[in-house]
Formats: sequence, C-alpha cells, structure tokens
Amino acid sequence: MAVLIDGKKISAQIKEECREKAARYREQGIQITLAVVQVGKDPASTVYVNNKKKACEYVGIRSLPYELDENVSQEELLALVERLNQDSAVNGILVQLPLPAHIDENKVIYAISPEKDVDGFHPYSVGALSIGLKGYVSCTPAGVIQLLKRTGIEIAGKNCVVMGRSNIVGKPMSMLLLRENGTVTVTHSKTENLKEITRQADILVVAVGKPRFVTADFIKEGAVVIDVGIHRNADNKLCGDVDFDSVKEKAGAITPVPGGVGVMTVAMLMCNCIASVEINERA
Ligand code: GUN
Repeated sequence: MAVLIDGKKISAQIKEECREKAARYREQGIQITLAVVQVGKDPASTVYVNNKKKACEYVGIRSLPYELDENVSQEELLALVERLNQDSAVNGILVQLPLPAHIDENKVIYAISPEKDVDGFHPYSVGALSIGLKGYVSCTPAGVIQLLKRTGIEIAGKNCVVMGRSNIVGKPMSMLLLRENGTVTVTHSKTENLKEITRQADILVVAVGKPRFVTADFIKEGAVVIDVGIHRNADNKLCGDVDFDSVKEKAGAITPVPGGVGVMTVAMLMCNCIASVEINERA
C-alpha cells in the first residue's frame, strides 16, 4: 500500500506560512489585496471563488469581489481589468474561468498586467517560467511541486512523466519539473505506446481529464503518482483521473482525491498573492 501524500496537511502548512508573511507585511503598512472577478453564476465557479475568498480571509489578504452579470460585454470586462491594473491598491487580479462564450478568454488573460497575474496564465508569466525568470507560476502545477518537496520526494534526475499538455497544468508542470532537474516526458491524446512510457515514470503526474483513466498497468512498481483530475461519479462521489483503489497497491506514494492536489491550488494562489508585493515593486 502506497504512502498517502497529504494535500490537506501540506496546504494547511502553506496557508499558515502565508498568514505569517501577510501579518508581517501589515506591520509594515502593506495590506495585500486580491481582486476576484466572476462573470455569471456558474455553480462550480461559485464554489471555487468562495474557497478563494475564504482562504484570503484566513490568510489576511483583502479580497475585492466583482460579480458581473452573465451578459456583461467583453469591452466592459476589459475596462474593469484595466481599472484594476491601474489601481495601486490592488496587488493581484483573478478572473475566474471559464468565461461565457461571447467573451474571448485569451483577450482577458492577456489584458491582466503581468505584475498582477496571480493565476500565472499570462504569456509573460509562462515565458518567464520557461526561461527561468522569477514570476507567477500557475497554481496547480506549483502545488504539485510543493506536495513532492514537502513529502521528501526527490525530483532531480528522476524520470518524470506528465500526462496531459494543457496550458494551465501539463505545460507549466513539465517546465517546473525540468526546473527541478527532473527528466521530463509529456504525453497527450496522440501519444503512441502510452503505457510503455508511463511505466518508465518514477514520478507520474496525471492531468488527462478522464475519470479513473490510469489503472495499475500504467504504473511502475513503487512510482509516485500525482492525480490532478477531479470528477463526480454517478453516485455523486469525487474521483480523479487515477483509479485510486488499484493504483495504490502498486505505487510507492499517491495523492487522494479529494485531499490531494485540489486543495493545493488555493494555497498556492495565496503564495502568489504574497509574492505579488515584491513583483509589483519590480514593475
Ligand atoms: N477555473 C478553474 N481553475 C481556475 C484557476 O486556477 N484560475 C482561474 N482564474 N479560473 C479557474
């Protein structure tokens, strides 16, 4: 039976560290402020946004909520982003995705000032990560690195396989593992001989977006398996991209769903908000 990688415990530690840093900033007269923009009332987005606001409250970051109507025009949303870019009291800007179909998501992401891009989605942030400059890193892959490091799992020199090549998880994940001196392979829907590749992995990060896709036959005995997926099954229970029950018998360490990667995303957003004070100064 694999060691369980405890996202709940590690995310709580990280939020505690952020809380201490935010308090030190307040003593210097700096109140960190995050603008949280939601368009429409998608229930899943509302849950995520509420979790982010709650975490801000705990850590001591002021959150400024902007709840816009589903039918807001792209121009109005871009005008709000521009106002927040110019507002020196705002350190970070988060526009919850997905946006309604009439709004071009990329235009909105590109409009956020790179100095306030706490989601790490702006091309500047992505470029900075890929050439090793300091900057904001997308929260979910940053959370995976923290799970590995704080569980004492060595990355340097290891065969790391990332399943999935999305802009938000797979691509930045591969860059982060490379930055930690892992030997990185990225697989995707067109990859041939998939299991031959995943069975080489010492560390397997799964972000394929398919419930229980990865079964024990994808895994090398003793591998570290990180499950980025989250799905609700027919019984309304949460499950990941990994078939936890079979894989846990073969893996050396594994993240549960829930209580693994998911809880880390908000904790890393808090870290990015703390980092925003220094990054704002560089602007
Ligand atoms: N929608 C799902 N995940 C995220 C995230 O990390 N950031 C934003 N802005 N929207 C999301």
